[in-house]
Amino acid sequence: SRPRVYMARKIPEKIWMPYKDQWDIQMWPYEDLPVSRTELFQQLKQADAIFTTLTDVVDQELMDNGKHLKIIANMAVGYDNIDVEYAHKKGIIVTNTPDVLTESTADLTFALLLAAARRLVEANQYIREDKWTTWSPLFMAGTDVHHKTIGIVGMGRIGEAVAHRAKGFHMNVLYHNRRRRPDAEKRIGATYVPFEDLLEQSDFVVCMTPLTRETEGLFDRKAFQKMKHTAIFINTSRGGTVNEQDLYEALKEGKILAAGLDVFQHEPIGKDHPLLQLDNVTALPHIGSATKDTRYQMMKLALENIELVLNGKKPKTPVT
Ligand code: GLV
Ligand code: GLV
Repeated sequence: SRPRVYMARKIPEKIWMPYKDQWDIQMWPYEDLPVSRTELFQQLKQADAIFTTLTDVVDQELMDNGKHLKIIANMAVGYDNIDVEYAHKKGIIVTNTPDVLTESTADLTFALLLAAARRLVEANQYIREDKWTTWSPLFMAGTDVHHKTIGIVGMGRIGEAVAHRAKGFHMNVLYHNRRRRPDAEKRIGATYVPFEDLLEQSDFVVCMTPLTRETEGLFDRKAFQKMKHTAIFINTSRGGTVNEQDLYEALKEGKILAAGLDVFQHEPIGKDHPLLQLDNVTALPHIGSATKDTRYQMMKLALENIELVLNGKKPKTPVT
């Protein structure tokens, strides 16, 4: 019989159509709602493969229910929603979608950096509220980006793509990473520094590190205290790398100047979230990789990984 594939999110028909004869495809019927845990639990009993997004927590209890499960194909570069260690213990393959989203996510990261520095969202809001009366010398005066120092925490593929953009703005590029990346240093002319030095020297501190046990809450009160009072903090990786209470206080008390955030500790957030009460926060709803081209490529790559594994082959992009 055909392998059973569960899609934990509704995706466009043209993406899964090519597989409809090979697989018995079951799909969560909503594009804008995450699958319920009960439904995922039920579906896992029979699934040979599942397609997940970053909103789907796949833990030990769920995997123990997946007696036939061979692959979890996550439509994201991050995989902190999956207990990968346990999956590997059970011989379940986990795949992610790196590379195809690198440039788009770097574009968004830089857009957010520019927006936070030059107060774009605040300025847009100003006109919409009909407050624009005149041009004035220091009206909406922000922070220069060009020739400043950017500190990238997490020099992976996306970090390097951000560094590349920063070079175009004649920025001085510092980075910190678990292991030094001499190849990247050569390619882009970035300088490796210890974490504390990066915090102290950077005008823009950009978090690009995956969420792991080591990086959880990495940006806390102590970290914000080390930053310049004029520093702008950007996060497009995972909200869990930040202690949001500490960030709120740092922004409120002027320990740092502003923040641009695409990710939050508990998503989604609403307008009552403390960080949204601050004018010096530019907030986005986790749209780092959100271009049509890139999202289609991510979906396709996840399905290719499923196809390979169900045919007994090695997936293209396994999480190791
Ligand atoms: C998005 O956050 C991703 O991990 O792809
Ligand atoms: C601003 O528009 C200027 O002309 O300086």
